[in-house]
Amino acid sequence: MTIKIYSLKDIKQLIFVGNLAAKILALINEYIKSEINTEEINNICHKYIETKIRCISATIGYKGYQHATCISTNNIVCHGIPNYKKQIKTNDILNIDVTIIKNGYYADTSSMYIVGNKRKKKTYKVCKRAQECLNKAISVLCDGANLSKVGDTIQTHAKKNGYSVVKEFCGHGVGTDFHLKPQVLNYNGYNNNDVLLKQGMCLTVEPILINRGTAIKILKDGWTTTTQNKSNSAQWEHTLIIKQTGVVLTTIR
Ligand code: MF3
Ligand code: CO
Ligand code: CO
Repeated sequence: MTIKIYSLKDIKQLIFVGNLAAKILALINEYIKSEINTEEINNICHKYIETKIRCISATIGYKGYQHATCISTNNIVCHGIPNYKKQIKTNDILNIDVTIIKNGYYADTSSMYIVGNKRKKKTYKVCKRAQECLNKAISVLCDGANLSKVGDTIQTHAKKNGYSVVKEFCGHGVGTDFHLKPQVLNYNGYNNNDVLLKQGMCLTVEPILINRGTAIKILKDGWTTTTQNKSNSAQWEHTLIIKQTGVVLTTIR
């Protein structure tokens, strides 16, 4: 499998767009309040992408998707479609996922937000544990590492804490396109097809944890993916570049 290796010039651009993507997730934080609906949240991000940081949304028009963000609340696992009828309320948890393009380079990142400051332990914890999975997985990557370490690390940490990992979605190569090779599995599933990481590769890591159970379903809209038992799920995502001794997180905040 040939995986693209980016030059230093490319990497500069990838970091540039990554930092812009991170800004969207930082800027939106102050708007995450009870009563706002997910379409309004999307519109703020969309406007910021086009007029403030002057980027292109990679998701608008992607396989027919029509929004600049995916906003996945509570039991929505991923690909939640922004909707004016979906008003958020205290103790909701939501994932906002953005992918943008600048000068032909992509950045893909998502973060969890908790509505209000009366943090219920259970809702807070799934978010926290999913973030830990992401950070632990990132910390084992470098030139010469096997890609399967990502899934091993995520699965081990999730399991230890009593959460299940969603296997139906994965991270991916990214850079000069949205979804490139390789698939970055969140569990141990490469068998004999493990990938040896090399300096200059650009990937996303994006684990999803579910509070309890593993079954998911895709709704009739063709996008919205939910847990079958209505339990909450959480996801975090960074875009990163493999370096000699570690990684550069392009979407770091
Ligand atoms: N951003 C998602 C990912 O992490 C993909 C969303 S595709 C969309 O790969 F069309 F739903 F936006
Ligand atoms: Co992604
Ligand atoms: Co994403």
